[in-house]
Amino acid sequence: MSSSVRLGSRTFLRHFLFRSSSRCAFLINLPYNSNTKLKTVLDRVNSDEYLQSLWDCINVNAVRRLGLSDHGRVHFAIVSNIALKILRSLVEAKVQPNIVTEHSMTNEDAEVVVFLGAVLHDLGMVAHRDNHEVFSVSLAAQMIPDLVRGVYGDKERAVITAETLHAIYAHESEIPQFTLEAGVVRVADALDMKEGRARIPFTAGKKDIHALSAMSIHDVKIRKGKLKPIIVEISMYNESGIFQVDQLLKKKIAGTKIEGFIEVVAQVENQQRKTVLSRYTLGASPEQPSVQASAQR
Ligand SMILES: [Fe+2]
Ligand SMILES: [Fe+2]
Repeated sequence: MSSSVRLGSRTFLRHFLFRSSSRCAFLINLPYNSNTKLKTVLDRVNSDEYLQSLWDCINVNAVRRLGLSDHGRVHFAIVSNIALKILRSLVEAKVQPNIVTEHSMTNEDAEVVVFLGAVLHDLGMVAHRDNHEVFSVSLAAQMIPDLVRGVYGDKERAVITAETLHAIYAHESEIPQFTLEAGVVRVADALDMKEGRARIPFTAGKKDIHALSAMSIHDVKIRKGKLKPIIVEISMYNESGIFQVDQLLKKKIAGTKIEGFIEVVAQVENQQRKTVLSRYTLGASPEQPSVQASAQR
């Protein structure tokens, strides 16, 4: 993946972030680079039919029964790529994951934790949307030790399981977070927000502010910032997308261990003349790491 993650159309993403094979219908593409532990775990996820079938079951509840946005295979491919991108940007900026500072493990192990957190965080939605993070923990607790078996000895396998379960449980905004890795998973989850994610419920007739604002998100890019290690650039078709940023993304970032390292710029652009019609920022001040909001024309 390039230094800038550009979240284009979901059709584009189908080729970019995952691919098909005859043995298994879905493979996540992830830039594992030299991280062989991540590659092994990725290969196991990509060949795990049970896990991938659970993803499909989530979407039956989410999309068909509840009219929510996509929570299926594409969501997990997108979230895992964003999470890896965010984590690597933080590490490059000398920010240390908690698995390094508190368990004397490595940045590569932190990548395994955020990847597993990204692909397993919504599993509990097979049972119910309400309290799904609790059900996700119990399902993931059965799967993680096998997904990392042989990659780690028993002691490290326990640490990977523990840190991933925290990231999974704390991925929703109201649950306090203890680690950088949990913050990465929560924010990555929130950044899967562009229009394609909302298209199914929108075209099925859901036209509330959630659906309308989600449909107004044109693109999301993640790159290195000047003031902060990460800048998230959100381009919108119109200003209703501000609701997604101010009411949803802002809450997801607040209280995480990565809050002080992210700047969010959302702007409405004139599609014909390539001019910025309005701009909205979160967390732009280096002296003030808490999320700040401002709007300007
Ligand atoms: Fe969730
Ligand atoms: Fe999610």
